[in-house]
Amino acid sequence: MEELNILIIGGGGREHAIAWKLSQEKRTGRLYCAPGNAGISRVAQCIQLKVDDVSNIVSWALQNKIDLVIVGPELPLTLGLVDALADVGIRAFGPSKKAAEIEGSKAFAKNLMQKYGIPTAKYAVFTDRESALSFARGMKGPWVVKADGLAAGKGVLICKTIEDTKQAIEEVLTDKSLGDAGKKIVIEEFLEGEELSILAFCDGKTAIPMVPAQDHKQIFDGDQGPNTGGMGAYSPVPLATPALLQEIEQSILRPILQAMEQEGKPYCGVLYPGLMITAEGPKVLEFNARFGDPETQVILPRLQTDLVEIIMAALDKRLTEIQVKWQDQSCITVVMASAGYPGAYQKGLPIRGLERIPPDVLVFHSGTAFREEEFVTAGGRVLSVTALGKDIKEAKAKAYRAVENIHFEGCQYRRDIAHRAN
Ligand code: AMP
Ligand code: GLY
Repeated sequence: MEELNILIIGGGGREHAIAWKLSQEKRTGRLYCAPGNAGISRVAQCIQLKVDDVSNIVSWALQNKIDLVIVGPELPLTLGLVDALADVGIRAFGPSKKAAEIEGSKAFAKNLMQKYGIPTAKYAVFTDRESALSFARGMKGPWVVKADGLAAGKGVLICKTIEDTKQAIEEVLTDKSLGDAGKKIVIEEFLEGEELSILAFCDGKTAIPMVPAQDHKQIFDGDQGPNTGGMGAYSPVPLATPALLQEIEQSILRPILQAMEQEGKPYCGVLYPGLMITAEGPKVLEFNARFGDPETQVILPRLQTDLVEIIMAALDKRLTEIQVKWQDQSCITVVMASAGYPGAYQKGLPIRGLERIPPDVLVFHSGTAFREEEFVTAGGRVLSVTALGKDIKEAKAKAYRAVENIHFEGCQYRRDIAHRAN
């Protein structure tokens, strides 16, 4: 079979895991990542292009005879990168601009779920402070206030009191603390339960769920402190029984693909509903139009089938013909982050101990750079230290042993990743 020249868009742990997987596959020809990072440069050639620089990405891909583009982050998807590549005849894996609205506008996603009976928290959409507040006053707390647009993980405010809710509404709608993303807000009911990430490969009609994963959003052990991009993940998840997974396919994945098709926005790419498993069953917290980070770092090491075969099948709308195989092993990733993260943090600190990592531990780089041949920190999340094992316990022991051997000044990580699987 002919080799494919592949360009990955993004530069975090998720893109490192994608590049690592593709680098082992027989159909991968030249492999590039834009912008990538120091760790990714070990498996792919990094290209200095920004993820939102749609026109330069398109012209670079044309000049370099790229056969396939895989888009990591949401921003280029909502800017229409996949459409722009399609216009010049380059295949790209990810939803079109109008399909990416499922992540780009929470109001769109909520209205769609309501219209098609897909389980989610009760809600209403507002552009006006007074009506938002009077709606909030009419419901019981806690209150969840969400900016409609993309807000880099800062768009969800959970308020314990009506006073906090009033302040949240004012900050987002009136003071525009999140810019245009907060022109519209969603106020919704607070859901109780355990969260679950289900990522699915989609070809417009068929969704093939990947193995389940669970993220740890808060910065501190015991799920304390502010939310981050994700401090660790593991797979499989004991909560995700075969019966629950079947229910998620039937009540969420199938109907949402049908809904998107019916609305003239067929969905091709990875669709990742963030779910709350409530006493009433699974409910959608949000839809993401891409692979999750750090979920991808624990899902792809378990994937036995070639990723590129699945992606090409999705692009050709023949996912029903493909058998996706997974390893039985368990996988865990522990994110090592900079001091101060998710707030302000310093960059450029030397990272020590990477040479001491055993070969069965995978260190995906989330934010690193080179300085004089040495790895230095370059982001809030720095490394995703990943290990497989016969069960979560074994994987966890391996990953934490490696984490203890790596050091950079002020490094912080959670010590309780996968605590719900114990
Ligand atoms: P989202 O970006 O919508 O997934 O929200 C980020 C995080 O906020 C989620 O992972 C949940 O932990 C929390 N969250 C969002 N919506 C709700 C809700 N309706 N009830 C409880 N927690 C929520
Ligand atoms: N793991 C959270 C996200 O990728 O949005």
